[in-house]
Amino acid sequence: MRTPLIAGNWKMHKTVAQSERFISGLLPLLYAADGVEVGICVPYTDLQAMVDSARGSRVEVYAQNMHEAPEGAFTGEISAEMLTEIDVHGVVLGHSERREFFNETDTALAEKLLAARAAGLAAILCVGETEDQRTDGATESVLKRQLERGLALLDAEALAELVIAYEPVWAIGTGAVATAEQAQEACAFIRSRVAVIDAAAAESVRILYGGSVKADNAAELLALPDVDGALVGGASLEPESFAAIIGAAVS
Ligand code: PGA
Repeated sequence: MRTPLIAGNWKMHKTVAQSERFISGLLPLLYAADGVEVGICVPYTDLQAMVDSARGSRVEVYAQNMHEAPEGAFTGEISAEMLTEIDVHGVVLGHSERREFFNETDTALAEKLLAARAAGLAAILCVGETEDQRTDGATESVLKRQLERGLALLDAEALAELVIAYEPVWAIGTGAVATAEQAQEACAFIRSRVAVIDAAAAESVRILYGGSVKADNAAELLALPDVDGALVGGASLEPESFAAIIGAAVS
């Protein structure tokens, strides 16, 4: 059985003071979240505060990006060791906004996944097609390419412990959530591509759905056989809506 993971992606939202208010609002709402892993993916400047405030709770703290090199002349970047030193649990890699606005490539992502693994960071790799690609019938070929290139450097053990988030770009921040059928079909396809690399890893790898997940659609998505959790943007910014989605993952 795969443990459900509900991860909130704050993107470029919340100062330290705002993040502290959020976490003190969220923690009391999680008393009944047994069996669900909870993550928050926060801006770099909030990491230390959230690690300290979430310590001892079920909330794990993730960064939203990381550089693949251990150190070097990469102005503005952060290494895996800089994250593990302050007890950050994991990192989200390859979000479509990073791919689109910051030229994140599949090749760099493969190296980032390897670096995260070597440092002991949990990783969530995001994949997903744009609206045009879906309309063109290219959804599966896009996912196949992103996975083949992104997963190229991981061994079976690392693959089994990886989290992959299926986030159709057209559903992110738009309110246009994928239908249950679309989400299940894509997540099953992703699992089948992992199985091509390693059948056992495909059984263990957790696949999240992301894109306009809200309290009122979460239960249907989370009940799908190949959906093991959710990556939540907008609805993770308020403790109440985020806690409601976490509640929908409790079995
Ligand atoms: P959304 O964002 O829930 O606001 O659509 C999801 C994401 O970008 O991870």
